[in-house]
Amino acid sequence: MFNSINVIACKNNVGAFIEIDIKKADSKAIEEIKIALDEYGVVFFRNQNLDSASYVSFAKQFGQCADYPMLKGLDGFPEITVVEKKPDENIMFGEGWHTDSTYTKEPPQYTMLYSIKSPPKGKGNTLFASQYESYKNLPDEYKNKIEHLKAVFSADGPISKTRNNRVAEKGTGIDPKTMSAIHSIIKVNKRNNKKSIYLSPGHVTKIVDMEEKESKALLDYLFHHQSKPEFVYGFEWEPNCLAIWSNHVMLHNPVNDFTGVHRVMHRITIQ
Ligand SMILES: [Fe+2]
Repeated sequence: MFNSINVIACKNNVGAFIEIDIKKADSKAIEEIKIALDEYGVVFFRNQNLDSASYVSFAKQFGQCADYPMLKGLDGFPEITVVEKKPDENIMFGEGWHTDSTYTKEPPQYTMLYSIKSPPKGKGNTLFASQYESYKNLPDEYKNKIEHLKAVFSADGPISKTRNNRVAEKGTGIDPKTMSAIHSIIKVNKRNNKKSIYLSPGHVTKIVDMEEKESKALLDYLFHHQSKPEFVYGFEWEPNCLAIWSNHVMLHNPVNDFTGVHRVMHRITIQ
């Protein structure tokens, strides 16, 4: 399946490592990285050497860069959002299980995260939960129940408070209460017909056309199911690593287990 890249799957096929200098990735390698993303949901590259210009040009080979509605981008490179936790801060941007920008009408398909500064290896990991695995292991009763359901995804969901420090510095002025979207709970990857659960605990507020109490009970069950340890891989960052994930397949959750160190990541989302 892979001729241009070397792919090493993680445990339970949740994520994979790819060995390639991504500055030298040609169109064949890019196509194979996309196939690996379809298969494993998230891929990791260590020891890269990207400046902002080469990062953006690499990203554009995956599709059009998406705007992040809540924060202004990096000076000179508006496609890049700086995701950081400063040494004196306690809250971590994006802390909690979620998938990116689901409150938009067409959420970005991929997210890329490149590490500039990171805490000691093993701290500030990003956890990824495969929603292929989560769907596959859902009892049939629930598979049938949620097959045609939709949910409300809000920018003002539980995760919104983790943005406050960054919004105070470089917010776009958009009121998160004004941004929400409705999406189906099940996604089907048309390239391999695999199904995944598309729910973002950080953003989802309710199930459409369902009574409040029943909606809450169903969401509590599904949120718990989505991040069971057997569906999860935790990536250990060090500087100059790149992760790319499919927001249709993976939930992610940065672990807020450090202080006194500056963690800086450059994020690009792809439509
Ligand atoms: Fe995120």
